[in-house]
Amino acid sequence: MNALGQDEELVVLGIETSCDDTAAAVVRSNGEILSQVVSSQADLLVRYGGVAPKMAEEAHSLVIDQVVQEALDKLKVFCSACYFIGSCSALCRILSIILVHGSKIGVRKARKVAGTYALPIVGVHHMEAHALVARLVERELQFPFIALLISGGHNLLILARDLGHYIQLGTTIDDAIGEAYDKAAKWLGLDMRKSGGPAVEELAREGDENFVKFKVPMKQHKDCNFSYAGLKTQVRLAIESKNIDASIPIASASSEDRRARADIAASFQRVAVLHLEEKCERAIEWAMKMEPSIKHLVVSGGVASNQYVRSQLNKIVEKHALQLVCPPPSLCTDNGVMIAWTGIEHFQMGRYDPPHLHVNLRMPCLIFDQDGHWAKSMLKEEVKLDHLKR
Ligand code: KG4
Ligand code: ZN
Repeated sequence: MNALGQDEELVVLGIETSCDDTAAAVVRSNGEILSQVVSSQADLLVRYGGVAPKMAEEAHSLVIDQVVQEALDKLKVFCSACYFIGSCSALCRILSIILVHGSKIGVRKARKVAGTYALPIVGVHHMEAHALVARLVERELQFPFIALLISGGHNLLILARDLGHYIQLGTTIDDAIGEAYDKAAKWLGLDMRKSGGPAVEELAREGDENFVKFKVPMKQHKDCNFSYAGLKTQVRLAIESKNIDASIPIASASSEDRRARADIAASFQRVAVLHLEEKCERAIEWAMKMEPSIKHLVVSGGVASNQYVRSQLNKIVEKHALQLVCPPPSLCTDNGVMIAWTGIEHFQMGRYDPPHLHVNLRMPCLIFDQDGHWAKSMLKEEVKLDHLKR
C-alpha cells in the first residue's frame, strides 16, 4: 500500500544535479532500476582540476532536458501523458512522482515536469540519498545502521536510526577525502577525465605505500571528525620535493618520474584511508553504545567506489562482527537512482509536496540542513555524544 492508499507500485523519476554530473533515473518501488542516465562534465573537470560550480550550473542547463528525456525514452512501455509503465489507467498520474535534489537547474526541471503532469514532488537530500541507496542494494538492511558517506564535498559518519532520523557522529572540519584525491590527481599530472579519484587509485597500484611517511590526520582528537587539508598540503610538498612537473602528463613521464608519482599516490591513499579506518572504528564503538542492535556499516558516496577503500573498511567491519554494505560503483558516484529510491522511501511514508509548491529540500524530518550540516533540533543527541567522548 502506498502513501495514497493504493496497492500499485510507484514508478519514480529521480533527477540529480547537485554536483558536476547531470543524472536521471526511473526506479520502481520494488527496487527495479528501469533506466539510468548520467551525463558527465569530464571536460570541465580536466579544465579546472575539480568542480567549478558556475560552469557546472551552465553545463547542467545545457543537458538537463536531454538527460531526463533519455531516462524516460529508455522505458520499455511508456505513456507520454504520465510517465507510467505498463497499462495506463487514470491512476497512473498520481502513482508517479518526480524527485530532485541539487542546483536550481534540477529543481526547475522537476517543477516543470511535475507541474505539467500534476505529479507530486519530493525534495531529497543528496547525502541522505547516498546513504539510503544501500537499502535498494541490500534489502536486508534495516535501521539502525552506521553510514560513512565520502564524496567530493562531504565526509560524514552518521547513525541512521530511522528514515529521516540521522545522528551525525562526525564530519570534516575542512576538506572531504574526494577533494584530496582530486587535488592529488591534478598535482600528479593525472588524467582527470574520470575525475581524480579513479586516476589516483589506478596509479597507486604501481606504487610503494610506505615510500612517503605522511602524517595521519587528527590522531590526537578523540572524536569521529575528519580533516584532509593538512594531508593535501603534505602531498603537495612531497610532489614539489620530487620536482614532479604536473604539466607533463603521466603518460609522457620517464619511468623514474612515473615511479615517484606512483609512490606518492600509494602513500597518500594509504594515509587517507587509514584516517577513515580510525574514525570508523570509533564511530562503531559510539554507535553500538547507543544502538547495540546495529549489524551494518554502509559506505557510500563517490570515494566508496574505490576498491582499496572497500577492502580496508571491510577489515574494520569484520573485526566488529558487522557487515559492510557498499553499493556498486555506479550507485556510489552521483546518480539519479539514489534520488528516486530515497523519494520512494519518503513517499511511502506520506512525505511529498504538491507539484506547484516550493520544493522543500530541507525535509522537516531530516536532521541535516541544506549544506549537509547538523541541524540544531538534535542538540540533545549531541549532548549524549559528548558523554561518549569521555
Ligand atoms: O559522490 P560524488 O560522485 O559527488 C559528490 O557528491 O561530490 O563523489 C565524487 C568524488 C570525487 O572527488 C571523485 O574523485 C571521488 O568521488 N571518486 C573516487 C573514486 N571514484 C570517485 N575517489 C577515490 N577512488 C575512486 N575510485
Ligand atoms: Zn555525491
